[in-house]
Amino acid sequence: MGRNPYIDAPPPPLPGKPYRITVRNSGQVIEVDPEALPHAHDGHQGALLSLLLAAGVDVDHACGGVLGCSTCHVYVERGFDSANEPIDEEEDMLDMAPALRDTSRLACQCVPDGSVDVEVELPAWTRNEVKEDH
Ligand code: FES
Repeated sequence: MGRNPYIDAPPPPLPGKPYRITVRNSGQVIEVDPEALPHAHDGHQGALLSLLLAAGVDVDHACGGVLGCSTCHVYVERGFDSANEPIDEEEDMLDMAPALRDTSRLACQCVPDGSVDVEVELPAWTRNEVKEDH
């Protein structure tokens, strides 16, 4: 799991119940089972990045999930408040991301708690990467 050794924040809590992630760009629906989370190679366990990647959604993650880039920027258009609060380092990195919205998060850091279903949208520059076959 990617982890920046200079950031000493504890990992966010894992989801407490099953929920769904809908990818607005493609309509793809991902069922998240807290008992069977995919292993997070980059970023936090249970974070949107690992869940999207495991479902075949191609999300950039240039720094490997250690808050060193903003290429994993996504919009959490539904269920935003069900995710962990961003730490200051995430906010700082997001400030450098283009086309910021109130719903912007870094996918490698954003761990929904499963209390509601979530809808994400990939920013325009990654849309061509979204796989349509599902
Ligand atoms: S992959 Fe670099 S901050 Fe998420």
